[in-house]
Amino acid sequence: MTVMPATEPSTPRRTALRRHYLMCRPDHFAVTYAINPWMDPAAGADAGRAVEQWEALRAAYAALGHEVSLIDPIEGLPDMVFAANGALVVGGRAYGAKFTFPERAAEGPAYADWLRKNGFPDVLPPEHTNEGEGDFLTLDHVILAGTGFRTDIAAHQEAQEFLGRPVVTLRLVDPRFYHLDTALFPLGGSNVAYYPGAFSPGSRAVLERLFPDALIAGEADAAVLGLNAVCDGRNVVINAEAAGLIGTLREHGYEPVPVDLSELRKAGGGPKCCTLELRA
Ligand code: ARG
Repeated sequence: MTVMPATEPSTPRRTALRRHYLMCRPDHFAVTYAINPWMDPAAGADAGRAVEQWEALRAAYAALGHEVSLIDPIEGLPDMVFAANGALVVGGRAYGAKFTFPERAAEGPAYADWLRKNGFPDVLPPEHTNEGEGDFLTLDHVILAGTGFRTDIAAHQEAQEFLGRPVVTLRLVDPRFYHLDTALFPLGGSNVAYYPGAFSPGSRAVLERLFPDALIAGEADAAVLGLNAVCDGRNVVINAEAAGLIGTLREHGYEPVPVDLSELRKAGGGPKCCTLELRA
């Protein structure tokens, strides 16, 4: 009788899709005000180092074969590097951002203007407060939308009506995870990774129902902004300090691409915050 060798549970093959990203060089990056618990103006940040780390992120996208467009940074807007907040672009249409805090208000029109001039003429100026892809994450059949700290629920409805995609509201409850993209990221079009502690009990139940196979991250990975990651379907650009989550991703057939964005984290941002996806 032949004894069969124990087989590894088979990991599915993951497929990368080429993406188009918009980024903004942190030439004027600084921590001069505090609008989230990560920011300490007294401690500040090293702008030169931030630029180096950001350049490495941009190079990582290029090495993965993605297209990267650049918007000119504007003096006096130190958080403009966080391009994800500039808009939500789906199916060639762009839903504009309207920032919560006056310090960032001018970024909304700046991103809308860039989009209009660079192949996305259909930009909706928003009526309701929303911080773009910081709080809207797009999957194949649904857009997940955060609320609680920045984006207004009315904006979820405004986005659904404009984009014609179902938008599911998720309530954030931990001030460290003030944008949805600090607590959850899509793994391709139909699954996600997230940190349950960032969500209200009802929203946690919604996530369990929608994504029974989700990858669950722990507090340690969330606390280094490990959930602020960018996945192209296979590769996951992620903060290097998120060791546990990096291991989990590998076990599930994803290819982690660790980056060091420690300087930008002093403003409460990671790889995803620096990246706005442009979906034609
Ligand atoms: N300092 C910025 C703010 O608090 C960080 C934005 C991070 N962006 C993001 N998509 N989570 O608005």
